[in-house]
Amino acid sequence: MQPYEAIKITEHVYWVGAIDWDLRNFHGYNTLRGSTYNAFLILGDKPVLVDTVKAPFFQEMMSRIRSIIEPEKIQYIISNHSEMDHSGSLPQAIEVIHPEKVFASKMGDAALQAHFHKNFNITEIASGQKFNLGNSKFVCLETRMLHWPDSMFTFFENDGVLFSQDGFGMHLATTNFWASQHETGILRYEAAKYFANILLPYSTMVLKLLDQFPTFKLTLKLIAPDHGPLWDTPENIQWIMQLWREWAEQKPLPKISIVYDTMWESTEKMAKAVADGAMSEGVHSKLLRMTDSHRADTITEILESGALLVGTPTLNQQMFPTIADALCYIKGLKPKNLIGQAFGSYGWGQEGIKLAKQALEDMQIKLIGEPIAVNYVPTEEDLVKCRMLGQQTAKILKNEITT
Ligand code: FEO
Repeated sequence: MQPYEAIKITEHVYWVGAIDWDLRNFHGYNTLRGSTYNAFLILGDKPVLVDTVKAPFFQEMMSRIRSIIEPEKIQYIISNHSEMDHSGSLPQAIEVIHPEKVFASKMGDAALQAHFHKNFNITEIASGQKFNLGNSKFVCLETRMLHWPDSMFTFFENDGVLFSQDGFGMHLATTNFWASQHETGILRYEAAKYFANILLPYSTMVLKLLDQFPTFKLTLKLIAPDHGPLWDTPENIQWIMQLWREWAEQKPLPKISIVYDTMWESTEKMAKAVADGAMSEGVHSKLLRMTDSHRADTITEILESGALLVGTPTLNQQMFPTIADALCYIKGLKPKNLIGQAFGSYGWGQEGIKLAKQALEDMQIKLIGEPIAVNYVPTEEDLVKCRMLGQQTAKILKNEITT
């Protein structure tokens, strides 16, 4: 008996990954429900390991493998993605297993060499390439920039399993491996958060992949991502693909994200008046005070918004630092089709508000009128102007959505 055991998921495929219950920070993305690093062992006549786990979880993966097979019997390893949450255990795995071959995409080969400097002998596989490993039949589907240059999916024809690395994944630690065992609301939120924080800049390529998907003519029974539950029914497979399509299309939606911070509650009063104006037009707002909101949750809200309004005090001739952090992060994720504007309170210079407006322009966000800048504390008249910004934003959004 091993401390950790493999879980059988199809006739030939076993889950041999690791559960990271305590993960709360995935390179700056807050992962409040932890994560899993899914690795898979295919027990055909020539056993194949698909992906590995983050380095500290190497022993857990090996224990799961040993529960069903001596690791040395594995003949091949397929590396679908070289980011270290999936490749971190690869050098140790190669050392123990001595596989006959390790497969990766051409870019994967380069990335693995640049990560580990071990001069691995990688067999490169290309998109559309079919290959048999003993009686196990595979097709390689490169998914460049989804979300790294090396990324690829591998389809295991025998059991109809698509190993999709980060694709259709989410950070969710669980011992319930099947998506059908989870509440839809949790799956939807964590999948949206994953898409917003990892895939959003590559939305055009996501749409291209989804359009191409039927042409691959895969007899698909299961999608097995490298994080979170496995999509196990035709209904939930269709559901996650449709959600990905909607998120990638980034059509304007009737919600306003109001990203703000405040020093002496002046910018906060402005933010609340903006939200109230939008509410009077029947449009929902989400206020995110960045001292208390995480940037990863903020982009998740923006994913399903049509407008981004940014409120910042001016501090030392700059935006408030939490707002600068949020806008830097949001800009990198390249949200599209948003309208927006900046507002805020200032003392003796309006630089923070001007910089926020500039950041919105740099993101090609269509500006609504002019920024609202209030000296020190807003008057009732100032707050009415903020309310009108909320109303105007809501009206433009409603108009965009209906036309
Ligand atoms: Fe789960 Fe891009 O690594």
